[in-house]
Amino acid sequence: MEKPSPPLRKRPVVDRRAWWLSASSATEAQTRFFEGTGADLELADTLVENAVGWMPIPLGVASGLLVNGINYEVPLATEEPSVIAAVSYAASVAARTGGFTAGAAAPIMRAQVFLEHPGAEAAARLEASRTALEAEARTHLASMERRGGGLRGLSLAHLTDLDVLVVRLDVDVRDAMGANLLNTLAEAMTPSLEKALGGKKLLAILSNDASLRPAWAEVKLSVDPERARRIALASAVAQADPQRAVTHNKGIMNGITALALATGNDTRALEAAVHSFAASSGTYRGLSRWTVEGEFLKGRLEIPLALATVGGSVGIHPTARMALQLLGSPDSPTLCSVAAALGLAQNFAALNALTGEGIQKGHMALHQRRTGATA
Ligand code: MEV
Repeated sequence: MEKPSPPLRKRPVVDRRAWWLSASSATEAQTRFFEGTGADLELADTLVENAVGWMPIPLGVASGLLVNGINYEVPLATEEPSVIAAVSYAASVAARTGGFTAGAAAPIMRAQVFLEHPGAEAAARLEASRTALEAEARTHLASMERRGGGLRGLSLAHLTDLDVLVVRLDVDVRDAMGANLLNTLAEAMTPSLEKALGGKKLLAILSNDASLRPAWAEVKLSVDPERARRIALASAVAQADPQRAVTHNKGIMNGITALALATGNDTRALEAAVHSFAASSGTYRGLSRWTVEGEFLKGRLEIPLALATVGGSVGIHPTARMALQLLGSPDSPTLCSVAAALGLAQNFAALNALTGEGIQKGHMALHQRRTGATA
């Protein structure tokens, strides 16, 4: 295809849209779907560059997820059939025995400043300058400090083989994702860090690693003893076989990523953090564990989740705001707790189907519905 001329970035959004419709030889039905409602176009243009429209993903509701005694109707944006039905089924099984208990650690994220060829004795130099550096960091974090968050740590690691020093600034980001805040902090602190520790900046950026803020969920289910044994064994298989673990964890993320998308969160950051955590022992493993305890099947999931409830596209996208309202306008730890319970519910539904009749029967019924509907 020829490059658009004049370039897309130089054209108003309505022109870009017209170009796309003609370049993709859209039919009238496609055009009607693509155009959606007029006002959306301006929002798309605010959110991203060279916007031409929207790529709508179905939004559904997983019903009746009981977490810490509260019933949640959970908005999920996903193109995959069976995800919502699976969570709703698992939620109904869990509700019979009291639902899920879940929680989340304080929302601490890390910014990193990498300094090439740092001066000798960086650790001692940090201690000599710590008070001044921390005070400076707090000035860059003033509004977050006022909201009860702010600086929680300043530490070093030396990548000795590369002779690169990693300066780590840990920040409680409260209900925000904090990406802009952490990137601004890292860049703003760079000159003082170079002066105090020696060396020259290579990179200054947040880390999407979220292992400082794990969320967890637990559930006790009353299921057929033989099924419980098989589910526990399947979960042990996901500890022992990395290839199975990938699929096991993909199933856990089916719900969590759909919730992240529905609430306007950064799904790429979320997935990167989760999969790095799954490999943190040196071997990629399943994130959940199921064990048989007496008459119960007990499940536990621990997972790093950096889900925001304010700021960024969470605050701008009207549907994301509605999704959060449906959840009762939670703070970030509550949203992370619900997400962890959702992941465990999804995992139970998958393992229950796989260790029973398999997933194809249900999938094929949905597939037939879809192809029937579009025939
Ligand atoms: C499909 O999207 C997810 C599953 O493959 C998860 C699993 O195998 O545990 C069913």
